[in-house]
Amino acid sequence: MAEGWLRSFDSELEIRSAGTEPAASVHAAAVAAMAEVGIDISSATPTSVSQFIDQDFDWLITVCEQARTACPALAGSVAQRIHFGFDDPAAVHGTPEQVRQAFRRVRDQIRIQLQRFYREKLGPLLRDALPQDLQPVRALLQVCGLLENDFERQFGPGWTVVIRGDVPVGAACIDTYGRFGLLRSVVVAGAHQRRGLGQLLVRNRIDWARERGIDSLFLATATAVDFFARNGFREVPRLAVPIEIRTLPKFEGSETDNSTVMEFRIR
Ligand SMILES: CC(C)(COP(=O)(O)OP(=O)(O)OC[C@H]1O[C@@H](n2cnc3c(N)ncnc32)[C@H](O)[C@@H]1OP(=O)(O)O)[C@@H](O)C(=O)NCCC(=O)NCCS
Repeated sequence: MAEGWLRSFDSELEIRSAGTEPAASVHAAAVAAMAEVGIDISSATPTSVSQFIDQDFDWLITVCEQARTACPALAGSVAQRIHFGFDDPAAVHGTPEQVRQAFRRVRDQIRIQLQRFYREKLGPLLRDALPQDLQPVRALLQVCGLLENDFERQFGPGWTVVIRGDVPVGAACIDTYGRFGLLRSVVVAGAHQRRGLGQLLVRNRIDWARERGIDSLFLATATAVDFFARNGFREVPRLAVPIEIRTLPKFEGSETDNSTVMEFRIR
């Protein structure tokens, strides 16, 4: 169940789950409990931890007391360990309904604990851009045709990056003009798209703008109208854009490529 939850949080994680005394098959009540929350673990097969003894892992997660004490030392390297003490729902004997309830309860406890663990230890990290991010962000923008001529000069405050591994795989920027902001250069590397990172970046920039007392964010996009609409932006006439933004060369340039102009009202 823990493996199923972790996979559902992030399809990029490589997860192996194993038992110290693996059963012949995954408990039918575990499969049913996970199916109730839309996660299919029916093809999982119990595996002995001895199969992974020589492999390297970033994390070793033990989920019951017995595993913590009985888990053999892995010969490969384990960078970090964490233990969660869940009850073993398979140890509950009772009516079928009592067994189902036990699996549901543990399923939900696992989700809460692992979601927090994922968010704090494994998930994508968003931070303000640092000087060393300039080259990787430049490369991201270039691939998507979003690189502006004066990129090097304007890279700095207002930029955020999303990091996976140790590498920036996405970026976004807001330029501020008094009470208004221009959201631009929102980009996620191809291999990381469609996993919510774009949304994470946009939400982060909206919060950043809110904290700075900005009333409205504007953007012009030729490629991602639906994406921004999903994130709360709505189409507005070009003339609705404050003049200090509308007359910027980079914004005026967007008129020629038929870009759609959009606004997000913060207040
Ligand atoms: C637009 C972009 C930043 C989205 O990043 P992402 O991490 O894939 O976005 P999310 O995972 O948060 O959201 C994905 C959803 O947004 C929508 N979406 C993503 N890119 C889209 C695009 N170019 N046009 C329309 N909708 C898009 C999809 O419907 C997707 O949902 P689905 O998987 O259910 O179909 C990314 O596609 C990108 O970098 N594109 C190239 C650069 C660009 O066009 N930037 C915008 C101009 S400033």
